[in-house]
Amino acid sequence: MEFLQRLLYTALSAASIFYFIVKTSLSFWKRRGILHDKPKFLLGNLGGVGGKRHISTVLEQLYEKYKGQAPFIGCYAYLKPMLLVLDLELVRHMLVKDAEYFKERGVFGNAPHDPLSANLLQQDGADWQRLHAAICRSYAEEHVIQMLPTLEKLAATMLRSLKQLPTSNAVPITNLVDCYNIDVISTLAFGISGETLLNSETEFRHMARSYLKDFNMFRLYFLMYFPNIARLFRYKTYEQAATDYFLKIVRQKLFEQEWSRLHQRNNFFQMFAELKRHRDPQKRLTDEEIAAQSFSFILMGLETCNSAMAFCLYELALQPDLQRSVHEEICKVWEHAERVLDAKNLKEMTLLKKCLYETLRKHTPYAFLLRNTDMDYEVPNSVFMLCKDNHLVIPVAAIHRDPDIYPDPSKYDPERFSDENVKRRHPMAFLPFGAGARGCLASRFSEMQMLVGLATLLRDYSFSPCRQTPIPLVYDNARLVLAPKGEIMLEVQCL
Ligand code: HEM
Repeated sequence: MEFLQRLLYTALSAASIFYFIVKTSLSFWKRRGILHDKPKFLLGNLGGVGGKRHISTVLEQLYEKYKGQAPFIGCYAYLKPMLLVLDLELVRHMLVKDAEYFKERGVFGNAPHDPLSANLLQQDGADWQRLHAAICRSYAEEHVIQMLPTLEKLAATMLRSLKQLPTSNAVPITNLVDCYNIDVISTLAFGISGETLLNSETEFRHMARSYLKDFNMFRLYFLMYFPNIARLFRYKTYEQAATDYFLKIVRQKLFEQEWSRLHQRNNFFQMFAELKRHRDPQKRLTDEEIAAQSFSFILMGLETCNSAMAFCLYELALQPDLQRSVHEEICKVWEHAERVLDAKNLKEMTLLKKCLYETLRKHTPYAFLLRNTDMDYEVPNSVFMLCKDNHLVIPVAAIHRDPDIYPDPSKYDPERFSDENVKRRHPMAFLPFGAGARGCLASRFSEMQMLVGLATLLRDYSFSPCRQTPIPLVYDNARLVLAPKGEIMLEVQCL
């Protein structure tokens, strides 16, 4: 009896302490007098995320409710207090003008025990600075342009794989563009010939799909809140089998490269490999660091490019007149350029580019950007002071769907990206690749990769909805990158 009583008291005390911690955490913004939305017990403002709602929907609702009332509001990711930035001028200060206060992102990485996490996205501080200084030149325009012929070749293989399918058939579009993007990554980032377009189930593709240990928002939150505990327990974000596989490929290719006399720079892998022997020890990369940079293409560039290309074809399938104009523009440039795509004539496909941008606006792959304050920061034109280690969220997808910036935001209208319309908007009104020193390094390259793939498909094929096409489109709420739930099926006709 006495034992039961003790057990009951212990349980009650533990429950009271837990309740007190939760209540104190969730009153963080109230105690500081910062405008915020009432949080739910344990969930904060993330109720339903990953199940009934996508994170972009939650951020959009908060943004719409509070924009214009304050430059930022407080919110809670479960128990973690975060600041949601609502004002575009403040966004510009944080990403560009006062970027030295916001150099960190605060995404968990554990390079000593999880080598693939030595990528730029997951690094902060001195490690980020060193890696960034070493590799950012590899993404310069002059290098990226040299990869166009390889992209063209892979896009031509995608056409061949499409031709093998029975005509007038419903085609799984996400799968088609996934094979193209996987081959781009294996060829240009790992230096191995991509064969997914010819033989869809390659080991590379399998690993590129299964590298992440069970992902969920709560795990992401835990790692952000308690990074030191996770490091103490040597937590790894990536599956050991995938880590071993990518490291093995990279080591093998580095070995081959060392013995060959060819010193070309027509893919990213060759440029990363050169850094192994850089004269400046600060810019010299280890095998593991090289593997992590190649792996960035899978981590950051696969689902994003898949979604953007598939959503673009989907939107054009629903607007046949627009699709016809895009097709005509591509054919005109293609014939004029004597059937070879170079950077100049890719730039001439202005309508296609506008369609890609409108897709990135309407279906923004990353709904938000993250920043940490490195030091105390006085918010311009206000009485607020942000303390060191505040976590900031910039709700990009909500900005892209703000009716005051983009009237009738659900409408797919590429003319929003005409030169005149772009000039009229705030420079921070379109941020699919982020901005500033921590913006996407590969934005120029991935734009080219997607434009080459789309131009090749839309030149030779027309896309239209069929019985299995999901209308309206449903998003997969469980994924962080915006993606369709299930496949996007479209009817494809050779032109
Ligand atoms: C449609 C394609 C892509 C989209 C929409 C996209 C978007 C983004 C966004 C939103 C960020 C965060 C920017 C910020 O915080 O300001 C980012 C960072 C990054 N992206 Fe991309 N990305 C794409 C493709 C790629 C590809 C193909 C790579 C290949 C390596 C890549 C590499 C990176 C890296 C390394 C960072 C971190 C940069 C840093 O912190 O220094 N991305 N990307």
